[in-house]
Amino acid sequence: MTNVTVIGSQWGDEGKGKIVDWLSSRADVVVRFQGGHNAGHTLVIDEKVYKLHLLPSGIVRKGKISVIGNGVVVDPWALLSEIEEVRGQGVDISPETLKIADNCNLIMPVHAAMDEALEAARGKEKLGTTKRGIGPTYEDKVARRGIRLCDLRDPVLLKEKLNKLMVHHNALLKGLGAETIDPQDIYDQLMNIADEVLGYSTQVWKILEEARKQGKKILFEGAQGVMLDVDHGTYPFVTSSNIVAAQAASGAGVGPKAIGTVLGITKAYTTRVGTGPFPTEQENAEGERMGERGHEFGTTTGRKRRCGWFDATMVRQAVTVAGIDGIALTKLDVLDGFKELKICTGYMLNGVKLDYFPAGQKEQEMVEPVYMTLEGWSESTYGARSFSDLPAQAVKYITVIEELIGAPVFILSTSPEREDTILLKDPFYG
Ligand code: GDP
Ligand code: IMO
Ligand code: MG
Repeated sequence: MTNVTVIGSQWGDEGKGKIVDWLSSRADVVVRFQGGHNAGHTLVIDEKVYKLHLLPSGIVRKGKISVIGNGVVVDPWALLSEIEEVRGQGVDISPETLKIADNCNLIMPVHAAMDEALEAARGKEKLGTTKRGIGPTYEDKVARRGIRLCDLRDPVLLKEKLNKLMVHHNALLKGLGAETIDPQDIYDQLMNIADEVLGYSTQVWKILEEARKQGKKILFEGAQGVMLDVDHGTYPFVTSSNIVAAQAASGAGVGPKAIGTVLGITKAYTTRVGTGPFPTEQENAEGERMGERGHEFGTTTGRKRRCGWFDATMVRQAVTVAGIDGIALTKLDVLDGFKELKICTGYMLNGVKLDYFPAGQKEQEMVEPVYMTLEGWSESTYGARSFSDLPAQAVKYITVIEELIGAPVFILSTSPEREDTILLKDPFYG
């Protein structure tokens, strides 16, 4: 048996949370390795709904270890309030069950303020971020002025670091016409929660090494999706981290061979929240129908998600750059009752056919999708638990997708409920 790495293959919200929760019954440890509380993962277990942002989606299963790796940016206040909320739903969360890398970077109140001020300054060109401070925190990490979880253990150093951080940011905030922030205020707020947060901090890489030595199974849980990857996505309309499976290794502190099978979570159509190019977007009755049937509203910001046809060219590219071995196809049920279904098989750009999604910002906006059309199905697939229950046209749709993206379907999801999931190939067996 091998480990499994789950990543999104589109623009996020593919149903990663549901699939990670389902797969976590087979795993011992579940690890988040990038992003932060910009993520929103919804789990539905016997009609009870859990909304997770920072906590790994294995948290609701008893007896599992949940890990937040060094590649995640952690807002300690958001963390504590999420812990309280999920605990309120009867989930056991303690330093025994939740481990946070002591070398992860922390999101400070100034980062959310910067996120907000930068978005405001962009005006019409805004990126549509979640305003959680994710981008500014990764910027500070790479600029080597970030505050890390381990810094909370050293109040003198922490104060020095906060003072330096705020010399930088207050100059920018002033320039952007936003209110400046007193580093002493941040320090006081941090000191109020330092002990509680430090209770969860540890050397995550050691825990993972130990788990590996004991033959335990690790499930790595990505946030966002490959088209939001800072290198491979629709730059600059992306998030500020790498999302591809390779990030699981550097964002958790394991070697590249430890990431195991790469499972790309893939929605049976396409959605995107926030601004940026979206070639197969349907701003019409069909897009509205997908949005209504799929309840396409963001878990984190409540924003309406843009909807469109399945883009096989884009997912094939995600399969390649991220090293996806197989996919979990989700939300097939949302397509029930469509007379016809379109799938994008390439793009036209200035009269030339492309079999890839180009990198240039203008080109990404200009490409016109080339579609193939498939017959839809009128039967309901909602809640189907066996492949043989699916109508022939749905099976055809799945087979065409597999061929076009160059990866097989390992798992099929037919409703938000945990158990409405069909296993075709177990990723823990490669
Ligand atoms: P994530 O960010 O990738 O974890 O996905 P989100 O949780 O943000 O969005 C996926 C939404 O679709 C959630 O509300 C899930 O409960 C729901 N969902 C997941 N799989 C299915 C499915 O197969 N069918 C339907 N109808 N809903 C699903
Ligand atoms: P999950 O894990 C969908 C999008 C934002 C915005 C861009 C940058 O639930 O799939 P950021 O706040 O990260 O700087 O915003 O990325 N975005 C997501 N879209 N699902 C997500 O996470 C997202 N996380 C960020 O809407 O377009
Ligand atoms: Mg989501």
